[in-house]
Amino acid sequence: MMSVVLEINDLKKIARRRVPKMFFDYAASGAYTEGTYHSNEAAFKDIKLRQRVLVDMTGRSLKSRMTGQDVAMPVALAPTGLAGMQHADGEMLAAQAAEEFGVPFTLSTMSICSIEDVASVTRKPFWFQLYVMKDRDFIVNLIERAKAAKCSALVLTLDLQILGQRHKDLRNGLSAPPKINLNTLWQLMTCPVWCMNMLRTRRHTFRNIAGHAKNVTDLSSLSSWTAEQFDPKLNWDDVEWIKKQWGGKLILKGILDTEDAKMAAKTGADAIIVSNHGGRQLDGAPASITMLPEIVEAVGDKIEVHFDGGIRSGQDVLKALALGAKGTYIGRPFLYGLGAMGKKGVTKALDIIAGELDTTMALCGKRQVSELTHDVLHDYRPAAMRGKKGKEKHG
Ligand code: GLV
Repeated sequence: MMSVVLEINDLKKIARRRVPKMFFDYAASGAYTEGTYHSNEAAFKDIKLRQRVLVDMTGRSLKSRMTGQDVAMPVALAPTGLAGMQHADGEMLAAQAAEEFGVPFTLSTMSICSIEDVASVTRKPFWFQLYVMKDRDFIVNLIERAKAAKCSALVLTLDLQILGQRHKDLRNGLSAPPKINLNTLWQLMTCPVWCMNMLRTRRHTFRNIAGHAKNVTDLSSLSSWTAEQFDPKLNWDDVEWIKKQWGGKLILKGILDTEDAKMAAKTGADAIIVSNHGGRQLDGAPASITMLPEIVEAVGDKIEVHFDGGIRSGQDVLKALALGAKGTYIGRPFLYGLGAMGKKGVTKALDIIAGELDTTMALCGKRQVSELTHDVLHDYRPAAMRGKKGKEKHG
């Protein structure tokens, strides 16, 4: 029996039942104590909206632009590793759902379906997220493949040169494809529909990489593979190099500090994404939303600022926009939709968020995304920033 799906949490509950534990947990976890992961969501609750009345609310629209591209609402699907393990052919299905909805889909380097797989089932350009590995020939080739697929933006991730440990992944024996042993067998056996769907596709491993990168030993374990292949020397000069190789719209993901934001603005990239990688990297970092206001202030109009981390509703999207983000990203909300019911579930996640955003905007007395400013917020200072007023910055 299908329960009524009204909010993102409903999709999460269904996904928890349908997706083998190692993959559900891979999505629903953060690094180490998961403190930052949980605070990303919790911090939104501190932000209060101004209830306005008797304002004409007809003719509302969520239409907007992200890095110059038209979007049905300023909510892109974030790059997420292993989406093709939440559901068979997951990235292809999510990309199609995003295309039909009119929002950008960002394909992760660490996806199961390849750039070419996704291009084969979509008509409009999608975005590609890049992890930089030591093997620069492979990176040059990967960028060329994204160009050949007509990807319309490159999202360069800055905050994952080494992996923050996620305990659950190690306990569950996470790998793609899953290795069969006593620990994992029951995880798979309890999800027969997932297994049947997986048997119908041949896409079971990291297809952007398998068959393309040289000297790849064991690709199946994300943690050992990142430790072995990702480039720990990545620096601002490399951003310059990648910008040249790519030559198109460039978005820098993983900025959480005003100093880094100012450096990013100087690179001439098109946008930054304020993000702590969904609390999956530096455990102990502040909630993403608490850093947004000062980063927006620090860069002014030098670079477009996007936001990622903790969004679970349209209300959260509205709060990020009101605090100065020009675009937002959802990761887990669409993964839960995907795990719960494939492409339909991703569409459902987008519908839920759009509905909530639209209603919330109306009740704040606004009709356009561009009207969402500090004006819709009660005097806002996140808990983490209270008492910080007037304090001198050191260092
Ligand atoms: C990879 O991007 C991850 O966060 O697992």
